[in-house]
Amino acid sequence: MKTKVAVIGCGTIATNQHIPAYMNNKDAEIKYFCDIISERAENAVKKNECGIAVTDYREILEDNEVEAVSICTPNAVHQEISEAFLHAGKHVLCEKPAARTYEEALKMQKAQQESGKILNIGVVNRFNSSVNKIKELIDNGELGDIHHVYISFRSHRSIPGLGGSFTTKAISGGGVLIDWGVHFLDIVMYCCGDPKPLTVSSETFCKLGKKIEDYTYVDMWAGPPVKDGIYDVDDSVTGMVRTSGPVITFNGAWAQNIGENEMYIDFMGDKAGIRLQYGGSFVKYGTKNGMLCETKYQMNEKNMFQQEIDSFLECIRTEKKLSSNIDVNIITSRLMSAIYESAEKHCEIAL
Ligand SMILES: NC(=O)c1ccc[n+]([C@@H]2O[C@H](COP(=O)([O-])OP(=O)(O)OC[C@H]3O[C@@H](n4cnc5c(N)ncnc54)[C@H](O)[C@@H]3O)[C@@H](O)[C@H]2O)c1
Repeated sequence: MKTKVAVIGCGTIATNQHIPAYMNNKDAEIKYFCDIISERAENAVKKNECGIAVTDYREILEDNEVEAVSICTPNAVHQEISEAFLHAGKHVLCEKPAARTYEEALKMQKAQQESGKILNIGVVNRFNSSVNKIKELIDNGELGDIHHVYISFRSHRSIPGLGGSFTTKAISGGGVLIDWGVHFLDIVMYCCGDPKPLTVSSETFCKLGKKIEDYTYVDMWAGPPVKDGIYDVDDSVTGMVRTSGPVITFNGAWAQNIGENEMYIDFMGDKAGIRLQYGGSFVKYGTKNGMLCETKYQMNEKNMFQQEIDSFLECIRTEKKLSSNIDVNIITSRLMSAIYESAEKHCEIAL
């Protein structure tokens, strides 16, 4: 029998990734498309030729046929909707970040524990072949002792939907750190065996998008600038995290006055190092018989969102816990809240 699912929020990530991935899985059937904008839910029904369009997720809670949901709404309602579905006995895949704050993520974890249902977070890079190969190389000791990881998630001039939900702290919980940084920090935690964060020192900046009408950009996803909208989040961030494993340093920017996009992670070990180009290939730098060696790994990459959804559906059947579960994610959530706290107080935070 097919697993009946509902998709909550029919915007960009649902339309481009979650919905096609469920449609491609022969063991899944989408029974509901839900969006507060009725047209979006109705369009999804028409396009996919299945399901029922609804505007209020509460209409789905009582349907015993629905076993699982994908939550693809803005961050502000991740906690509320996840809790509601978990308590209604449904398994949940909630998009990243888990929530706006660590406190909200803790409430989601509590709901998971009380319900005994699955709560996975959309840290989709855990289903990326390059990331998994790096994890394997690290686990096999090929990099030696990893003392430092440097993360760069910097773009020249983007900022998603300036003035809209991504740049309004009350909705998103933060800017480039919570939006992009979450993926990069998660890759590091995953590959390095989830080290325990010890201290955090950071600064965030809300600079380039401040005058919405004057902002000149190269690209802007999530819609055009909202001239009278809100812009109160970090467009860049820098910092350092000491962990029980490597020290992590990072620079992130949705927008910077440097005309380069630099999206990579450097894993620096005493035997070898790796530079991973985010979403792409990686190079391992080492030595052999007194010579410097570089090895390029170009993986035959599968669609990681498809892998994520397939794994979610499979873990519902097998009850096998995925590494993207809330218990693992809560650590990154705590870390990001500490990064914001350190920046706000201009001092180091001990965790
Ligand atoms: N994994 C990734 O790489 C990735 C990429 C993009 C976005 N995301 C995450 O996905 C989420 C959505 O992002 P998006 O870019 O699709 O945003 P979006 O604005 O395009 O879509 C969100 C949709 O949710 C709907 N919505 C809002 N409140 C709702 C509610 N209470 N009930 C039902 N529907 C509601 C909106 O009307 C909208 O259609 C965010 O949390 C974002 O961080 C993840």
